[in-house]
This record gives sequence, structure tokens and C-alpha cells, in this order.
Amino acid sequence: MSKSFELPKDFLLGSATAATQIEGGDTNNNWYHWSLAGKVGKGESSFTGADHYARYVEDVNLLSKLNQECYRMSIEWSRIQPAEGEWSKDAVEHYRDEFRLLLEVGIKPLVTLHHFSCPEWFQKKGGWLGKDAVKEFLDFVEFAVKQFGDLVSEWCTINEPNVFANDSYVDGKYPPGSYGDIPAYLKVTRRLILAHLKSYKLIHKIRTESNFIGPTKVGFAHHLAIFSPLTSHPLARLGCFLSDYLFHEIQTKGFVEGKLSFPIGFGYPEGKGVFCDFIGINYYSRHLFKVSYNPGNLFAVPMVDPQCPDSRKNDLGWEIYPEGLSFVCHRIWDQYKLPIYITENGIPDEKDEKREKYIFDHLAEIRRLLDEGVSVQRYYYWSFLDNLEWNDGYGPKFGLVEVDYNSMKRRIRKSGLRYAEICKTKKVSFHS
Ligand code: NOJ
Repeated sequence: MSKSFELPKDFLLGSATAATQIEGGDTNNNWYHWSLAGKVGKGESSFTGADHYARYVEDVNLLSKLNQECYRMSIEWSRIQPAEGEWSKDAVEHYRDEFRLLLEVGIKPLVTLHHFSCPEWFQKKGGWLGKDAVKEFLDFVEFAVKQFGDLVSEWCTINEPNVFANDSYVDGKYPPGSYGDIPAYLKVTRRLILAHLKSYKLIHKIRTESNFIGPTKVGFAHHLAIFSPLTSHPLARLGCFLSDYLFHEIQTKGFVEGKLSFPIGFGYPEGKGVFCDFIGINYYSRHLFKVSYNPGNLFAVPMVDPQCPDSRKNDLGWEIYPEGLSFVCHRIWDQYKLPIYITENGIPDEKDEKREKYIFDHLAEIRRLLDEGVSVQRYYYWSFLDNLEWNDGYGPKFGLVEVDYNSMKRRIRKSGLRYAEICKTKKVSFHS
């Protein structure tokens, strides 16, 4: 059977990465030190990456070969500011060159300022719990936007604030590895919101005052998943509701409206307003909640649907649940009517057997959303290259392009070639 549809010509298709996951070679970020402590994969290290820092010219050419129209990437704070008060000219030149190359081949960069990693000096001062954390991050934002703002008009302040705070302070998988520390989760969430609100204003101010060309667009990438109770038991429903509130809702209200909600605060610290020109959504999966509590979870234990067949699971065992994409987009659109970018959506699939259908099914949801009047404007497949899946190491293969970690050679996967065709023609079809 064959199904097909088209996407509008002005709907942009591309892919995403993050510096720590692909660049390699940096010893000043906290994930390098986390790797040294044996917390990454099977003794793997972020130092390896996909050697992208050295191979960025080759990789930009590859992005172009894949007909990518837009590319979401992050800049590594620790390369730009390796020590407190020290700013690296080399790193600035490096990233400027990468942006120039992207623009030359007609690819629009969307640049993330905080994608899970930070400089080790910042981590040592307490990370986002340190008393000057927000100010220190803003110094970096100011420097970066002044250095790159003529080439980059689109910025994503913080990636997945909920996953970052949860994995760092509640389930302990990310540095500093705290377990069950809900007060820290709440405090960091509040600080990330403040950092975003202030960055939003700062980026606009700098780009306007500097007369940088191109409309400034600032947003964040929210991780939104589907949360459902496993049973109708009132405690399962309550646990699911509380987890959803603390993991999705307080961040949405904070980042978009500037509102601090109970229990992270009250009122509008930066005034009432709209603090996003687009809302980025990272969407992957659905979680069901069962009645039971352990300190490594916010309020109830999330699990994969016990009925879910293997054909609907990815290599990490997450449920493949494309219908959820419509739900999370409506959740945002119905409330805010702001442009939505799907800043991440993808699958670890080493055998490359499920990726093509995965992309088709999620783009079909987007087609439906567009027909319903929801302004979804971009889709960034996660990820352009195989990369370091944080504490899970290099095992999960998310890439459109496979990386051989011995030779660092790149090979475009079959699904990558199919996606390249879609990006070029906006015609989406699937034969089963
Ligand atoms: C979201 C994160 O932003 C990204 O870094 C990660 O690799 C993907 N999800 C897949 O888990």
C-alpha cells in the first residue's frame, strides 16, 4: 500500500544536533568530567564525539547534500568561555566560519545556547544552583549574540529545561548526579526560566541596537511527552497529573508567559508578556504512569505501555507514538497561537528499519495539524549524525548519517536519502 501527501513549500525541513554530542575534543565541559568519572555509556567519553569540530566543513557539505533547509545546532559554552573571565577568539572564529558556510549553502541556522552542558568551572561553582548562575549564563549569552548575531538571527535559549533539571537532580543521570532532590529541581527550573526571560530581552536588544539584519526569533525547546495514567486508579491519575504539572506545565507558563507558578514562585519577575517568538517542541514518546513512588521520579513511575509490541518501540525501548505529536502541538497552539517549530523528533534505529516510517508518520501528523490551522512551521529531525546519547553513550543510533567511530567516516543511511528527497520536493510518501 502506498500513502502520500505534500507539505507547503514554505514549511522548512532540516535536522538538529548539539555540540557536546558531536564535536569531540573539548576538555573544559562538565560532560568530559562526567565521562572521566565513568558515568557515560560503557566507559565512553564526550571527548570522542563524531569529530565534528574538526570535520565541520565536510559536515556542512553533507547537510547541503541532504537538502537541509534549516539546521539546529548548539555552541559549546566551555569552548567560548573555557575559564571564568576568559573568552576564546579561536572558538569564536570557528563558529563564525561554520555559520558562514551554512549560510553560503542556503541553510538557516537556529542556535541553541544551553543544550545540557556547561563549562566545568561553572559546574564547580554549583552549576545552576550556584548563586551567580543566571548572571554568568547571561554574560555568555551577551558575548555570543554580540559575536555571532550578524550571522545568526534565530536563537533557542535553553534546551529541554525539564529533562535537564530532572536528569541532573531527580534521577541522577546527568551531572552533578543528585538523586531525588526535588527542591533542587524546582530551584533550577525557576532559574532556567529567569535565564530564558532575561535572554529573550537581551538577544532582541543586542540585535536591534547593533542593526543586525534578519528578523530576530528567540524561543526555547520544550520537551513535551504524552503522559497518561496506566489505570483509572485515582492515585495513578493523581501521580500522572502532578508529574505533568511539574514536568510540562510550570515550564510552559514560565518560558512563554513569564509566569512563575506554585511551587517555584508567584507572579511575573520580568513583567507580563510573551517571551517566545516561536515555541520549540521536542517530541519523542508516550509514558504511562503507575501507582508507586520512588525518589528518582517526580511523583509517579513512568513506564512503557505493557501492551506495546516491539514493532512500535525504538532501540531504547521507547514507545513510537506519532499520534501524540498532534496532542502536544494542540496543547501549545490552543493556548498561545504562537508559531511552533518541531525542534526535535527522531528515532534510535541501528538497523534503519523503522526510521523512514517514523518520519513519514510524524510528518503526516504535521500535515493534519496544518489542515486544522495549527501554525507548525519547521521540522528538525533528531539527529543529523549519530552522536553521544548522553549517559547512554554512543550505542543509540539516531543519525540520518551513520558515523563509524573508528574511522570517523560518514555514511548516509537509506532513510537519510529518503528524507533528503522529502526536504527537496516536500512530497512525502510511504510504501508498505
Ligand atoms: C532530546 C535532547 O535534546 C537530545 O540531546 C537527545 O539526544 C535526544 N532528546 C534523544 O534522547
